[in-house]
Amino acid sequence: HLLSPSPASAMAPAAVVLSQDEQKRVAAYRAVDFVQSGMVLGLGTGSTAVHALDRIADLLRRGVLHDIVGIPTSKQTESIARALKIPLSDLDAHPIIDLSIDGADEVDPFLNLVKGRGGSLLREKMIEGASKKFIVIVDESKMVGRLGGSGLAVPVEIVPFGWSYTLSKLKALFELERGFNAKLRTRVEEDGKEVPFVTDNGNYIIDLYFENGIERDLGLLSDSLLRIVGVAEHGMFLGMATSVIVANKDGEITVIN
Ligand code: 5RP
Repeated sequence: HLLSPSPASAMAPAAVVLSQDEQKRVAAYRAVDFVQSGMVLGLGTGSTAVHALDRIADLLRRGVLHDIVGIPTSKQTESIARALKIPLSDLDAHPIIDLSIDGADEVDPFLNLVKGRGGSLLREKMIEGASKKFIVIVDESKMVGRLGGSGLAVPVEIVPFGWSYTLSKLKALFELERGFNAKLRTRVEEDGKEVPFVTDNGNYIIDLYFENGIERDLGLLSDSLLRIVGVAEHGMFLGMATSVIVANKDGEITVIN
């Protein structure tokens, strides 16, 4: 069901053009309307999810919400939530999560997602997969016709051992695909040295690029990726989102279920 856009009222007067970050905030605040006292919450990672953390912390401080337990999807989120005094626990203590709220890099018309630009895809997928409800919060730039279609990477988390062997296996999977590329994600240290990006789980990330987006069956592609020994997880979140909340530059919010 597509609920027609509704104004974000006081937060976003119609005449104002919202920046991308303001759109993220509007979507995040709307998602937090679904949080109830006593819930176990999956806490997402990234610049959109941070707005949800701020809002949850504010409502806790004001006593509007109470008895919330947050399960962070990354070390970064853990430290932000800790600073905001959101009570935290983990997936082992809470294997069933009431609601997760997180951003995404891409959302297709069927609510399939690409996540993991921030590198937290494995923990995100575990926690969001354990959630009764998973609300995705995005600005309108994240909506795509086809996953991989925005020119951004589809990340794959791999174990560091034999990473170039795993990279070659991934490349072989797409050898007939025009405009395909795969690269080890790196970061530049203070001294200018380029080193592999390391995830919270001590793993590496291979970024897959598709010139025209992913044209093959996503479920089959997921199976093929996960069958490669050395692959820990990939950033396609298929059929996992319960709702997607999209905010646009006019401050309108669309909820897609
Ligand atoms: C991190 C993620 C993020 O949710 C995704 O990258 C969106 O980030 P942002 O809200 O900063 O645009 O998957 O692993």
